[in-house]
Amino acid sequence: MELRVSSTLFFLLLLAFPFQFSSSSSTKGFSLSVENPDDVILSPNGIFTAGFYAVGENAYCFSIWFTEPKAQNLTVVWMANLNQPVNGRLSTLSIDETGNLILTDARQFKIWTTDTSSSSLLKLVLNNNGNLVLHEKQGTVLWQSFDHPINTLLPGQVLPKDASLVSSRSETNHSSGFYKLFFDDFNVLRLAFDGQDVPSNYWPDPWLKNFESGRSSYNGSRNVVLDALGYFSSSDNFTFKTSDYGRVLQRRLMIDYDGNLRVYSRESAADYWYVSWQAKSEPCKIHGICGPNSMCSNDPYSGRKCSCLPGYKVKNESDWSYGCEAKFNISCNMNESRFQLISHVEFYGTDFVYLQNSTFKQCQEICLQLCNCKGFQYNFRKEFNRYDCYTKTMLVNGYQSPDFFGAMFLRLPKGDSFSGDLKESVNSCHNNVNSVMLERGYIERRENTLVKIFLWLAYAIGGIEIFCLFMVWSCLMITGKKSSVNEQGYQLNAIGFRRFSYSELKKATNGFCEEIGRGGGGIVYKAVLSDNRVAAVKRLSEANQGESEFLAEVSIIGRLNHMNLIEMWGYCVERKHRLLVYEYMENGSLAQNLMSNTLNWSERYNIALGIARGLSYLHEECLEWILHCDVKPHNILLDLNYHPKIADFGLSKLQNRNDINSSFSRVRGTRGYMAPEWIFNLPITSKVDVYSYGIVMLEMITGKNPSMGIQVADGAEAHQGRLRRLVTWVREKKIKGLEMTSWVEEIMDPLVEGDYDIKKMETLVKVSLECVQEEKSARPTMSQVVEMLQRY
Ligand SMILES: *[C@@H]1O[C@H](CO)[C@@H](O)[C@H](O)[C@H]1NC(C)=O
Ligand SMILES: *[C@@H]1O[C@H](CO)[C@@H](O)[C@H](O)[C@H]1NC(C)=O
Ligand SMILES: *[C@@H]1O[C@H](CO)[C@@H](O)[C@H](O)[C@H]1NC(C)=O
Ligand SMILES: *[C@@H]1O[C@H](CO)[C@@H](O)[C@H](O)[C@H]1NC(C)=O
Ligand SMILES: *[C@@H]1O[C@H](CO)[C@@H](O)[C@H](O)[C@H]1NC(C)=O
Ligand SMILES: *[C@@H]1O[C@H](CO)[C@@H](O)[C@H](O)[C@H]1NC(C)=O
Ligand SMILES: *[C@@H]1O[C@H](CO)[C@@H](O)[C@H](O)[C@H]1NC(C)=O
Ligand SMILES: *[C@@H]1O[C@H](CO)[C@@H](O)[C@H](O)[C@H]1NC(C)=O
Repeated sequence: MELRVSSTLFFLLLLAFPFQFSSSSSTKGFSLSVENPDDVILSPNGIFTAGFYAVGENAYCFSIWFTEPKAQNLTVVWMANLNQPVNGRLSTLSIDETGNLILTDARQFKIWTTDTSSSSLLKLVLNNNGNLVLHEKQGTVLWQSFDHPINTLLPGQVLPKDASLVSSRSETNHSSGFYKLFFDDFNVLRLAFDGQDVPSNYWPDPWLKNFESGRSSYNGSRNVVLDALGYFSSSDNFTFKTSDYGRVLQRRLMIDYDGNLRVYSRESAADYWYVSWQAKSEPCKIHGICGPNSMCSNDPYSGRKCSCLPGYKVKNESDWSYGCEAKFNISCNMNESRFQLISHVEFYGTDFVYLQNSTFKQCQEICLQLCNCKGFQYNFRKEFNRYDCYTKTMLVNGYQSPDFFGAMFLRLPKGDSFSGDLKESVNSCHNNVNSVMLERGYIERRENTLVKIFLWLAYAIGGIEIFCLFMVWSCLMITGKKSSVNEQGYQLNAIGFRRFSYSELKKATNGFCEEIGRGGGGIVYKAVLSDNRVAAVKRLSEANQGESEFLAEVSIIGRLNHMNLIEMWGYCVERKHRLLVYEYMENGSLAQNLMSNTLNWSERYNIALGIARGLSYLHEECLEWILHCDVKPHNILLDLNYHPKIADFGLSKLQNRNDINSSFSRVRGTRGYMAPEWIFNLPITSKVDVYSYGIVMLEMITGKNPSMGIQVADGAEAHQGRLRRLVTWVREKKIKGLEMTSWVEEIMDPLVEGDYDIKKMETLVKVSLECVQEEKSARPTMSQVVEMLQRY
């Protein structure tokens, strides 16, 4: 039987003549048999082949692969039944009477089908680009393999919306593995390790906000495409060009079993594949790669090396993804544990307790009190000049690098002495886990010259990398930004931005029982999250917004990152519920503190400067231009050290998204703090926040509430008349006091304690008065305010 079929031959199914199939579909109809190695479909250009591919002994998957090389290890680009191979006898791929492409195992079991239906003639064609298409004779496409990618994208193939690429389990096991390339809730393309309870993102670096990694969350089309010249683009604005960009080569984008996303290229069928781009340059930063209770370290020869922690032994020598298991039982008795230092090691994520500025003893106590605490990370945070403590009940994503300045204290039983020397427990990784820059075949076949070329390539790439690192470093130095990515990453991960379920928040707030504030469109409750962090949960009352709009806004707010802005940890959107989860501020609001008169002059000055910085960031520095519109002492919160953070920014957007044209038609804000523009219906600009800021400052200095005027003006402008009172009162004092140097001292609240620098106070009063000018163009911008206040 001649069944070496090329796609130029059409497999016509004459469904009008069912008798043709009734006898045996394998002879009369279209059918490929697993038993005949020549039963394959070739693309017209000969580059691709579709057929049965042996994935194990007597185990076959219907697959598409590159025709060359015809070696045992084919370059497979697609598989139909990767998780359920079929028998090597009597298994077939055929088209049935109803228009379905069906894979049958041992003539009995339907393993896989395209779930299509048609009553007309069908053709199965393998296109030149590697796309296997089932279509009707008239051209209607019923099904195509490009719509169902596995772990590979070919040039021109668009990753369908909401599809993901999933790596294979290992180099030889093609079933679905732990790594995936996908779009997250915010339309950002990511790589994640999905082999534990919690999926763990590792690309782009999880501690970076989207805009810091150059991603955009606004485009919901969620597509990804690599072109024939080597240009990759995704709808979140991530693009790259391969190192060999511009030449027409054979290419494939693949998520490898080791969790790295790579583009492979080759000149022609006669050549070997090489890597022309990869997502992660440090193999140990790929999560989950060595399994739990082990550490990954860089190895100059094999790329990386996994080793068990002291006291642990490897679970499965041939598959390190199982990690290591303890050789001991931890006793709950606190007196029977000791801690062993392992330096330069980080276990990323899954912190049980995160404690800032903790002593070593405190940290150790917390761990000891918890039966299943396996140890703790104790890192020095240079930027805050303190030690932070992270206790762990799981030890995952461990990696060791001399560049990491932090230490792990591993909990071990007291009596037993496990070797402190890690080398003893080192097991070099199985081949499966080694990071190989090149396809295996490349090295094996043309060892001498090619290895040399690739060594040079590696040096060149290394050189470029060092250069890039240097550039990044110098950028960081110039802008004076955070210096240590490791440390930064650690904290941000500990307080990562995420989605909460309603029931989770209900539990955390104990059924919304402890109210700690009101306003800004909702009630705020105190909560204790499952990881013991204390949080403030705001329940929005007026949230009748659709889910996607809410998510878009929340993602904008969530990306704002400034020391003087309240940090948002997450959100919840479920049916009608819209909740926001923020960090909890120990010292409450500025309003409360002014009332109880707890702040001295130097704290007040620092608060003035901090709020100005926060607003300046909102107005001028962050990507999205944001007006607060409700600056008042209730929205300024103070942390343990009385550093101010602005709350409720972005809420005006969250609640009234639809009225964009008349976006500020409704008067917002709070009486006493509102700029004249609101009352006179003038265009609203960032100067409304400047005005409110000025009022808050005057209130802080004088101790007088702006809405408590001396005299009430009449009519519609009543409150406007009142609030002019505080301002006019200060202005009058200023004019009268021109000859007296201490007019500023005269307006300062006599009840406030602490020393002050009269020059500073004069500046603050002067700046505040400028901020409350009726004419908005006469008011300074927030960055000018920061500049003036910083001078002292
Ligand atoms: C195929 O891959 C396996 C596993 O890496 C390897 O042991 C074998 O030698 C390869 N075979 C060929 C022909 O390259
Ligand atoms: C491949 O991996 C899967 C999932 O871990 C496993 O169930 C299967 O037995 C493996 N197959 C082979 C041939 O090792
Ligand atoms: C979204 O991304 C796609 C593909 O990258 C692009 O074609 C489209 O124009 C983008 N849409 C918007 C609104 O930017
Ligand atoms: C996308 O990237 C381009 C070029 O880097 C940039 O000009 C543009 O502003 C970005 N778009 C978004 C939405 O970030
Ligand atoms: C180790 O892993 C391999 C590959 O997944 C598997 O075939 C084998 O059964 C495992 N051995 C043990 C002891 O779990
Ligand atoms: C740990 O506890 C289990 C069950 O209690 C016991 O079977 C095992 O021998 C213990 N292992 C060690 C190392 O003591
Ligand atoms: C631990 O040791 C302390 C002092 O050595 C002792 O007071 C305490 O009772 C011990 N705790 C337990 C659970 O044995
Ligand atoms: C850390 O805590 C100590 C006392 O517990 C305090 O003196 C120190 O100022 C704190 N440091 C920071 C950076 O908060």
